[in-house]
Amino acid sequence: MDAFIIRGSRALKGKVKVRGAKNAVLPIMAAALLTDERCTIENIPTLRDIVTMGKVLKHLGMAIEDNGNGALVVDSSGLANHIAPYELVRTMRASVLVMGPLLARLGKAKVALPGGCAIGLRPIDIHLKGLEALGAKIKIGRGYVEVSGKKLHGAEIRLSYPSVGATENLIMAAALAGGKTVIDNAAREPEIQDLAKFLRSLGAKIEGEGTSRISIEGVQRLGSATHCVTPDRIEAGTYLAAGAITGGRVTVEGVVEEHLKPVSLKLAEAGVNIEVDGSSITASIPGRMRPLNIRTMPYPGFPTDMQAQFMALMTVTPGISSITETVFENRFMQVAELNRMGADIRIEHNTAIINGVNNLSGAEVMASDLRASAALVLAGLVARGETHISRIYHIDRGYEQIECKLRDLGADIERVKE
Ligand code: EPZ
Repeated sequence: MDAFIIRGSRALKGKVKVRGAKNAVLPIMAAALLTDERCTIENIPTLRDIVTMGKVLKHLGMAIEDNGNGALVVDSSGLANHIAPYELVRTMRASVLVMGPLLARLGKAKVALPGGCAIGLRPIDIHLKGLEALGAKIKIGRGYVEVSGKKLHGAEIRLSYPSVGATENLIMAAALAGGKTVIDNAAREPEIQDLAKFLRSLGAKIEGEGTSRISIEGVQRLGSATHCVTPDRIEAGTYLAAGAITGGRVTVEGVVEEHLKPVSLKLAEAGVNIEVDGSSITASIPGRMRPLNIRTMPYPGFPTDMQAQFMALMTVTPGISSITETVFENRFMQVAELNRMGADIRIEHNTAIINGVNNLSGAEVMASDLRASAALVLAGLVARGETHISRIYHIDRGYEQIECKLRDLGADIERVKE
């Protein structure tokens, strides 16, 4: 397994270009199951999760080829298998996103129940309730969920929670259903808006994405399209946080400023100077950082996927900060490791209280989940001495060549074989 060795205390300076959003690519790849025509998906980052989704889709019969310049050409005309097996699903929860399109296209899907993961139980009850409303029959047993329904029909669905995955699965299932579907209390994330844009380019009739009320008029069949994936707002936010925590000046290029607003507003509140120039945003530190109180919320609230990174930033920000995690029940995996680096964090229920310290010290730490691992990298960049992060395959799931991009910004970081 690979590890990172980081020698801290250098101010990062320079520019970094962000790639397509992992959490948009995954549902869009699954959505390509809905059509038997060839599609091209552009601006695809090289990430483990995208390789995993490719394995699941190929197992189902989708042809996928990398056209060599960051795009995938996908073709589901050979779709034959409706079973997503445990050995693939257990490595990536997002595999459940094949459920809606398989049901819509083949009238059935059998998907291994996604095991819980490092950040919580993450059931799929909201997905299943919505599919039932569309006319699917649900059967759960022996670690699998089977959904079946020859012809789905439109329905009025109200989500009990604005689940991103459930919203995506239901939009995809409703795209080929007979009649109109309305999803109330839908998730509003930019990645869902990108999925809707892709589906509309295939001929789907969707309105309201980005609001909490999405309506879909089912169509008989979908066609072909070429789609360029929206930029990754979490990758961008992570590099802005890297510039802030090291007291440097980092510009992220190729972003949608609107999508980063919840993050850039919080950085500005903490005393970071934010400059916007079209699709570029620059973070720099004019003076003293200020402590923050953060509450993660569904979009357009502060994103849970930036919670750990901000926690790292707050460990070396003078004063008392608090972060309340409302989206997942166990997303403080980074706390113990940050405290081993000299941070002063205590947890009260779903709130972390961070007492800023003058500096962190390098240590041997272990990555646990994708964003907690990003927090350890940020901490290593500012810690005194050497930080050794093991199990960095967690990071490779969602950050393309993070060590190369950080080295280009002046960081002393290297990937080593363990
Ligand atoms: C998506 O996960 C993202 N993953 C996550 O990003 C992100 O943290 C999350 O949305 C929230 O923004 C992808 O898009 C591939 P949810 P998802 O359904 O769809 C509960 C990353 O770091 N829930 O909105 O799984 C659930 O347990 C990843 O890139 C139910 O109870 O998130 C959680 O507590 C991590 N029942 C909350 O809702 C359900 O049926 C939010 O889950 C579905 C969800």
